[in-house]
Amino acid sequence: MGIIMEKLIKKYNIIIAIVVFIGIPLLFYSLGNYPRRSILKESISILTILALFQMLSQFYLARSNKVMLQANKMASVVKVHKFIGYFFVSILLLHPILIVFPRYFESGVEPITALIALLTSFDNTGVLLGMIAYVLMLILGLTSLMRNKLPLSYKSWRVFHGILSVLFIGFATCHVISLGRHSSFPFSLYIAGVAFFGVLFLLKMYFSKLIKRKGDI
Ligand code: HEM
Ligand code: HEM
Repeated sequence: MGIIMEKLIKKYNIIIAIVVFIGIPLLFYSLGNYPRRSILKESISILTILALFQMLSQFYLARSNKVMLQANKMASVVKVHKFIGYFFVSILLLHPILIVFPRYFESGVEPITALIALLTSFDNTGVLLGMIAYVLMLILGLTSLMRNKLPLSYKSWRVFHGILSVLFIGFATCHVISLGRHSSFPFSLYIAGVAFFGVLFLLKMYFSKLIKRKGDI
């Protein structure tokens, strides 16, 4: 890659990231023909959708995306990765509560009753997928927080973290496509595509390393 191209990519990396992980999702949201609800409910929806996209962005903010990031310092990329990780995992941990929260301002079922009903809907595949994704996300957050206390070398931790991320994003994507009220067909396709290429980059890196290692023996 030429130096000019490299500089150009560095300059536009942030713009590309904002377009892919914020701009296009917001465009899908605003162009969709959904029945609009209260401002509170719509804001919670937008927050959740954007949080999902920041989870997806994590695959592109790691060494698996070296080609695009080669003009950026990896140490600063990891800093951004960690910040986005902790911040949006925390927001998504609140997601089941945020779904029932608006009921606080409505008459009818109490938020707590609705939350218990939601968290016991084991017969609903979409909810079940969400619960599995939630547990994987919690493990992802906790094993990042306690990385130094785990009996794993940094390299093994990173592979563990990568595989856990793939499992998490797989369940999360299926959950959102099956249950999300804004998951129209084109939006679902976009979400699945961003997830697919993120995972592909990671697996490609793992397999090319494996092949290289075999070649050394
Ligand atoms: C919760 C806070 C998180 C922290 C502190 C964290 C930290 C890290 C660190 C230190 C690395 C190694 C970077 C490198 O050396 O290149 C990494 C890699 C990675 N992270 Fe995270 N991360 C977090 C959340 C996430 C989430 C939520 C996802 C995905 C949904 C994710 C996906 C990945 C992937 C795919 C890699 C590449 C793995 C590899 O290089 O083998 N991370 N993360
Ligand atoms: C205990 C676990 C979970 C439960 C019970 C749950 C439940 C739900 C429900 C009921 C909806 C539909 C909300 C509506 O129609 O307004 C929904 C949507 C959604 N969920 Fe989850 N979920 C869980 C975990 C997750 C996780 C871990 C993610 C992480 C990415 C996630 C991301 C989303 C997104 C992006 C939407 C679409 C929001 C929208 O279009 O308004 N969920 N979830």
